[in-house]
Amino acid sequence: MNNAIAVLDSGVGGLTVVKELLRQLPQEKIIYFGDTARAPYGPRSADEVILFTRQIVDYLMKFKPKMVVIACNTATAVALEDIRSRVDVPVIGVIKPGARAAMKVTESGKIGVIGTEGTVKSQAYDAALKEISPDLEVISLACPEFVPLVEAGRMDTPETWVTVRTSLTRLREYQLDTLILGCTHYPFLTPVIAEVMGSSVVLINSAEETAREISVILSYGGLLAKSTDSVPIHQFFCSGDPAIFRKITAAWLGKQIDLAPIVWQVPTIC
Ligand code: DGL
Repeated sequence: MNNAIAVLDSGVGGLTVVKELLRQLPQEKIIYFGDTARAPYGPRSADEVILFTRQIVDYLMKFKPKMVVIACNTATAVALEDIRSRVDVPVIGVIKPGARAAMKVTESGKIGVIGTEGTVKSQAYDAALKEISPDLEVISLACPEFVPLVEAGRMDTPETWVTVRTSLTRLREYQLDTLILGCTHYPFLTPVIAEVMGSSVVLINSAEETAREISVILSYGGLLAKSTDSVPIHQFFCSGDPAIFRKITAAWLGKQIDLAPIVWQVPTIC
């Protein structure tokens, strides 16, 4: 089935999932939406995040996608079930895949989670991890400064290093062996976070496991794209400045794709 997979996030963070999708499922067409005009979602109320997610999904459903991927932890935490109840295609988020990926690597059972204020407040990772194993020790930390750095394309500036170091230093005292990057923007900062946390901590990016789950769902549902000779034409939408979005997308995905992002006017209700 050659309909697209719709992927959404508050901004460029969901591109970390798109990158894995392009690697694991190269035949699939992707429609991506980054709500860059309204990012960050982290400090917003749950009601607001649910409303924004509904608006984006309503928009994306016009393209008749075969699946919706909420590639945003903050939106997954509060809006996943709501969106599932509103559309008739499979909808997946990134939190359970992230928790599963962490379980595969932890030896000590001491797992750290960094995410937005919204994600940490929701305790969605604590719930997902403890559902797998109640004995885990989970230490969560909100890092609200990280998303604005990534949205501005400042992945490796002196300010970024200072911010990451200052935010994460106190996590080091817990002697974690695993740290979940519980915000899809954070893999953009992997080299900095890895250096600050040290080599004894494995960083978990939920993108790989999420793409695997997508692949399984499509495969079981008989929904995988038919192999064709032509390369799928992906589409990218954003609600804010297309120039910075295009720059970050091109640098991150590193391949020649149609990068004329279509700008979506956010509904006036917001
Ligand atoms: N990338 C998103 C997440 O995974 C949202 C970040 C934000 O907008 O605050 O939570």
